[in-house]
Amino acid sequence: MMTRIAGRLAAVKPSASMAVSQAAKDLATTGVDVIDLGLGEPDFAAPAHVTETAFKAARENRMLYTPAPGTPELRRAIAAKFKRENALDFALDEIAVSNGAKQIIFNALMATVNDGDEVILPAPYFVSYPEMVKLFGGVPVTPACGAEDGFHLTPEVLEAAITPKTKWLFLNLPGNPSGAVYSEEQLQALGAVLARHPHVLILSDEIYEHIIFDGRAFVSFGKACPDLRDRSLIVNGVSKAYAMTGWRVGYAAGPKDLIKAMSTVQSQSCTSVSAVAQIAAQAALEGPQGEVARFREAFERRRDLVVSAISAIDGLTLDPPEGAFYAYIGCAAVIGTTTPDGAMIANDSDFATYLLREAHVAGVPGAAYGLSPFFRISTATSEAVLKDAIARIAAAVSRLKR
Ligand SMILES: Cc1ncc(COP(=O)(O)O)c(C=O)c1O
Repeated sequence: MMTRIAGRLAAVKPSASMAVSQAAKDLATTGVDVIDLGLGEPDFAAPAHVTETAFKAARENRMLYTPAPGTPELRRAIAAKFKRENALDFALDEIAVSNGAKQIIFNALMATVNDGDEVILPAPYFVSYPEMVKLFGGVPVTPACGAEDGFHLTPEVLEAAITPKTKWLFLNLPGNPSGAVYSEEQLQALGAVLARHPHVLILSDEIYEHIIFDGRAFVSFGKACPDLRDRSLIVNGVSKAYAMTGWRVGYAAGPKDLIKAMSTVQSQSCTSVSAVAQIAAQAALEGPQGEVARFREAFERRRDLVVSAISAIDGLTLDPPEGAFYAYIGCAAVIGTTTPDGAMIANDSDFATYLLREAHVAGVPGAAYGLSPFFRISTATSEAVLKDAIARIAAAVSRLKR
């Protein structure tokens, strides 16, 4: 049958984490008490002054179209943030604002990727990266960066992944799903490889910058590798740091020609980010930063709770995540076991399905992130819910027959 859907969508899958959340919601509508640890979304309210500023702006009707790359006021606040927190200097025409970090990445890929271009996505990677790359005719190259290397891309693995067709290397610091954080030295070691391959652009997705544990200092890729400035795009946003996921404001700083091309994409698609959301993001970046630290501390306590509870389960493994709000749990020992009703757990997707059915806990299988056998739970929920979820997981795992 003729399809009316464009060919470019043939290989593109909907977001796995959103699909898991939908499955959890569907199960909940049948009356089951489901714990959804699928999506990564802070459970805090955005800082009160942000919401108040947005209300005021709406009442004053400051609600017109804005310039495609963002209001000058917000871009000034972003430039000040890069200076204050990352020791980076960017001019306003080196900054673009979009509907979340996700749309920034989408715009960057649309503006640069030609058919057959390769994009290196160290696995495990954020689920949306490969799907966006495929949407634009690109080819995801997904070298495995396993637990034995702390889920870090090493210089050797990077060198082996680069070809004449490589367009981008994506880094994600701290990483979703692994939580891996890179030190300045680790970034510089990658930078030394990249210096030998001037055709490769670098996208550093730093959306979890503020959620970092054990006293580590966050180092932006831009700060670690200033010599690569003319081909680095530093991506960030207010979703995770300020608990503002639904406001949909992300931003990036990078070379002028790239920012201009991304703004052209934006001007011909969504025009701009909502004016009131930009005002809210500006308030978040310019206002008191106390909530950011409070959120970080809560995420660290939850990380500790999850690591100790998961480590006590025979068959699951979890090294302490260094940042972000996920636990990427190794489940190699449960592969090959049998469920109480006689089904074989053949892979991490089967395990995630089993946990949803048996434990009524929704997590996302490692297959969605390109590195198995793992499954990811979000730790962006209360300690009580996490305790309940892990107790259910432990009980379900104990019912598996080896
Ligand atoms: C690595 C990574 N980048 C980007 C995003 C999306 O951020 P935003 O809400 O700003 O679009 C997420 C959200 O889960 C993420 O995990």
